[in-house]
Amino acid sequence: MAAELRLGFIGFGEAASRFAKDLSQAGLQSIAAYSPSAAKAGADDPVGRKAAEAGVELVPTLKALCDRSTLIVALTPGKLALPVLRKARRHLKAHHIYVDASTASVRDMERAAQTLEGGAAFVDAAVMDPVPMNGIKVLTVASGPHAERFRELLGPYGMNIQVVGEKAGAASSMKLLRSVCMKGLAALLLESLEAAQRYGIADALAADMARFINGRPFEDVMKRFVCGTAIHAGRRVHEVSEAMALLKSLGASTRMTRSTRETLQGIDAMGLRERFGAREPDSIAAVLDAIIESKGRAAAGKAETDQTNG
Ligand SMILES: NC(=O)c1ccc[n+]([C@@H]2O[C@H](COP(=O)([O-])OP(=O)(O)OC[C@H]3O[C@@H](n4cnc5c(N)ncnc54)[C@H](OP(=O)(O)O)[C@@H]3O)[C@@H](O)[C@H]2O)c1
Repeated sequence: MAAELRLGFIGFGEAASRFAKDLSQAGLQSIAAYSPSAAKAGADDPVGRKAAEAGVELVPTLKALCDRSTLIVALTPGKLALPVLRKARRHLKAHHIYVDASTASVRDMERAAQTLEGGAAFVDAAVMDPVPMNGIKVLTVASGPHAERFRELLGPYGMNIQVVGEKAGAASSMKLLRSVCMKGLAALLLESLEAAQRYGIADALAADMARFINGRPFEDVMKRFVCGTAIHAGRRVHEVSEAMALLKSLGASTRMTRSTRETLQGIDAMGLRERFGAREPDSIAAVLDAIIESKGRAAAGKAETDQTNG
């Protein structure tokens, strides 16, 4: 018979307490939690009541949590992920699985994996969307050699875990790299709409952009953006330069558009249009590989030149 799953949360804030409540409702019987304030909580204070409602046992120390748990999920402020793991390490044994699901830096997750090497199993995880709205249905991505085990243990209780890589750090990278795009999109929207507002056409522009995005699945939009850019970058430099001139004349910000122009110029200089025979490549991966290869060649060429000159 499989050993009983005993789950322990380090941190019992917004995310952990909601996960605990949902998992408990899904039938997971043994859940405990530790946090500095939970350790001191009486049955009547808010943390104590939240724990009682969720069927969670609050324990007084990190050691107590490790001693009574087989699967440990840390959900603390990201900057504390590594310090907390270092404190927990002395209480961890080979049978433990330690999942860090805090929003931590990729380096810290790589270090965390090194810290536990040869001892407890480490899993890097990242919670991709707000927990209060989604509970355990929120997408949690996980990486590292033990990520699959984490998925096998909590997936059956309804937790939405997707394994994204064999290396600890991949899950945290995914969250940060999504931010590169999403936060960048927000900055681009601001730049475009600010200028439109100055011209009195912000509502019409917003409606038109929404029509464009809503008109097809985002997978198709991404493919068109990436693959189209690979072969039309040179032509688009001209249009973006016109857009820059317009932004300047309106006194609007140009920072994002300047970067767009530089990016397009860089891609044009890589000769991707010639490489793909002026035909749109049929996969995003083909474009990414061509860009990485071209940058690799450029770096190797530069290193050779530096060596010759140096
Ligand atoms: N909430 C979300 O929807 C969401 C979504 C995605 C990702 N995340 C990530 O999940 C993590 C937790 O988020 P949250 O919203 O639950 O934060 P939170 O509500 O601020 O809770 C943080 C928890 O960490 C505990 N903690 C602080 N220092 C600790 C220590 N030294 N040892 C043990 N526990 C400690 C806190 O305990 P005390 O109260 O005793 O200080 C608290 O219970 C963060 O990294 C966040 O970025 C959250």
